[in-house]
Amino acid sequence: MPLILGIDTSCDDTSCAVVSNGEKILSNVVSSQTADHAEYGGVVPEIACRKHVENIIWVIRKALSDAGCTLDDLSAVAVTRGPGLVGALLVGIGAAKAIAYSRDLPLIAVNHLEGHIISPFLVSGVEYHFPFVSLVVSGGHTSLYVAKQLGEYELVGRTLDDAAGEAFDKVAKALSLGYPGGPIIESLASQSDDDCLTFPSPMIKQDNYDFSFSGLKTAVLNYLRFDLQITSSDEVPDRIGPDLLERICAGFQRAVFQVLIQKTLRLAASRGVFVLALGGGVSANGALRKAFSEAAQKTGLRVIFPPKSLSTDNAAMIAGAAFHHLEKRQFAGLDLDATPNLAL
Ligand code: KG4
Ligand code: ZN
Repeated sequence: MPLILGIDTSCDDTSCAVVSNGEKILSNVVSSQTADHAEYGGVVPEIACRKHVENIIWVIRKALSDAGCTLDDLSAVAVTRGPGLVGALLVGIGAAKAIAYSRDLPLIAVNHLEGHIISPFLVSGVEYHFPFVSLVVSGGHTSLYVAKQLGEYELVGRTLDDAAGEAFDKVAKALSLGYPGGPIIESLASQSDDDCLTFPSPMIKQDNYDFSFSGLKTAVLNYLRFDLQITSSDEVPDRIGPDLLERICAGFQRAVFQVLIQKTLRLAASRGVFVLALGGGVSANGALRKAFSEAAQKTGLRVIFPPKSLSTDNAAMIAGAAFHHLEKRQFAGLDLDATPNLAL
């Protein structure tokens, strides 16, 4: 069984994993930098790079020891080449090259988005079922694909401005809630009764599969500014009580989820596809999972989510995605460079 070591340093998590045969996760170590970025309300690229440099060696060592293997047991080394922060990507790429060169192992360059697409299938008993509709919904991307086979993903729609996760983070910042915004907004929204505020679900009526979340973020900011006369996030804790805060969060979250669910189901129906797979940090959200499952059930569709540990950034999905590249002998050279805006 080929063992692939995967490395992901695309954003603010340093991660390394060992995956057997493209399906069985033997280890998946994620060192989060959330605490280092929290006071800035978002990821600071310079800090992310330095933290990756500090962490990469022990994270790789731990991934090998958790998997009970050594570098001698590996069949290949896989690494995220993009998209992501250039300096952050380069730390993982440098480490992967060093291992590949010193052990004479094939080097596999993986698109981070392919990792998110295949992440729901890295669970025992969950088989690939092509074609499936994939919704990648993360801090950097909100994209809809029809996955036809491994390595063949048709991009059908994407966000025209902010990603859904980015909107969660920006709204959380405006509400003085902290970073990352997704889990905090989820938790506050879950306390709200049915009486949540109503915000518009952008582009929901448009006959296409694109998204836009920057207007929704502005709608929340306008509500704070014009309805509540709040001009700075510093005023929020004194001016907005827990009840209203929960209703704002629930209304915002509902508006995001309505458009995600409607467009994904519409795409599945138009292509006659019966399996939906979600990936990316926002897919960790329990309310999204519940609403998606209920909507899918009504139309007889099957929806698959990654476990929460595989929703947010991780290297298991990189090692998992690398397997079909290994089979096809699609290898990178030691001149591999980071591609920050790599598309898929
Ligand atoms: O996939 P990910 O870890 O990194 C990227 O590739 O971007 O996604 C991070 C994003 C952040 O914007 C974060 O706020 C969001 O995922 N997120 C969530 C939740 N957990 C993380 N959004 C909504 N609900 C959550 N529970
Ligand atoms: Zn990601």
